Amino acid sequence: MMKFSKIAASVAFLSVGVSAGALHAQTAEVLHWWTSGSEQAALGEIRKAFEAKGGTWVDTPIAGGGNARAAAVNRMLGGDPAAVFQFSIGQQLRELADQGLLANVGDVATAENWDEKLPPLIVKAAKYDGNYIAAPINIHGENWMFYNTAVLEEAGIEVPKTWDDFIAAAEKLKAAGVTPIGLGGQPWQERIMFNSVLLGVAGREFYAELYSTLDDDLLKSDTMRKVFETFAALKPFVDEASPGRNWNEATNMVAKGEAAFQFMGDWAKGEIIAAGIEPGTTVGCAFAPAIDTAYIMTVDAFAFSAMDGEHATPAQTLMAQVMLEPDVQIAFNKKKGSIPARLDVPADSFDVCAQTAIKTLQDKKTHLVSTGLFGVPSAVSGAIDDTISNFWNSADMSPEEGQAQFQQAISYAK
Ligand code: GAL
Repeated sequence: MMKFSKIAASVAFLSVGVSAGALHAQTAEVLHWWTSGSEQAALGEIRKAFEAKGGTWVDTPIAGGGNARAAAVNRMLGGDPAAVFQFSIGQQLRELADQGLLANVGDVATAENWDEKLPPLIVKAAKYDGNYIAAPINIHGENWMFYNTAVLEEAGIEVPKTWDDFIAAAEKLKAAGVTPIGLGGQPWQERIMFNSVLLGVAGREFYAELYSTLDDDLLKSDTMRKVFETFAALKPFVDEASPGRNWNEATNMVAKGEAAFQFMGDWAKGEIIAAGIEPGTTVGCAFAPAIDTAYIMTVDAFAFSAMDGEHATPAQTLMAQVMLEPDVQIAFNKKKGSIPARLDVPADSFDVCAQTAIKTLQDKKTHLVSTGLFGVPSAVSGAIDDTISNFWNSADMSPEEGQAQFQQAISYAK
């Protein structure tokens, strides 16, 4: 049932006798990769709010982040840009701004005072030349471990705190005929699990220094070799149907008890919620095993193609404004499995895992960035995904060889 205020707004809008031009002015094509159940449900909250304010939403879903990002860039370079496209804030988005492909939404950001309402790390990553080039709408964490509580109980297993504990638990599960890890065998998913092992074995300071400096000595260190040895030890714990599996299918395996654990970003929690499961009940959440506490962040955002010069069109402006409204932030993030980008949004109605994230992030020493789209240049991000996937899927590459390939590819790409 629409609230009275929304009905009144709709009647007022229609009674003014909207001209085609005005309708067109509020029309935005939105290109994105949110095709899973929970992603669609979450995005629907933004669409609903945009349309309630008179916007016309043209939906262009493209499955797979890499495919959608390539399509958005190709459309811009081909002179037929999608007005609004999903990205993640960070270095790769700034590369597009460098090429003059993006409009800025500085007017909205100023009017809505985003500088004060967003965390400093996000403000910095969402701006280019002092202007906002994207509307950051959430904070996802990548170093989560989801698990089926009944499967662990049945096997007499405690939630593992270290990777050695995890390996011992996985061996016990495998001996009992249970698939220890539900994994989607795609490079970005394998990389997420690798980075959780890296963080867990080497610690948050090593993670931060390694990915901010890409230093050869760190890449060649004994610590990195231990990371590759630990990652290699996980290979026997996934099922043979893992290659090519989508992330949400792996989440479903854990929800149904077909696998015990999934190491994934908390968009997996969105799927658990969409399946009618309260996170922390039959499916538990904890940070992946680690020697200290940290949060590997990725921030979803929508960017705006430069349609006519660097200023956003009325439809792009309306979209940016709607995305950061408090009630949209709550409705969207509760379904997406993330936490609001805005600091001033009450999050006490969020689930227990989200509360852990919010509490953790109050300590700035826990703030780490994803190597997916946020923390490193495109070429380095690609080198990381490719070499980790190559190592994970190689039957005979030693941890030393995997580490050497990782170091060489990053050194070449940086
Ligand atoms: C990530 C994105 C998440 C989720 C995931 C899987 O890049 O930040 O929101 O969509 O891809 O599709």
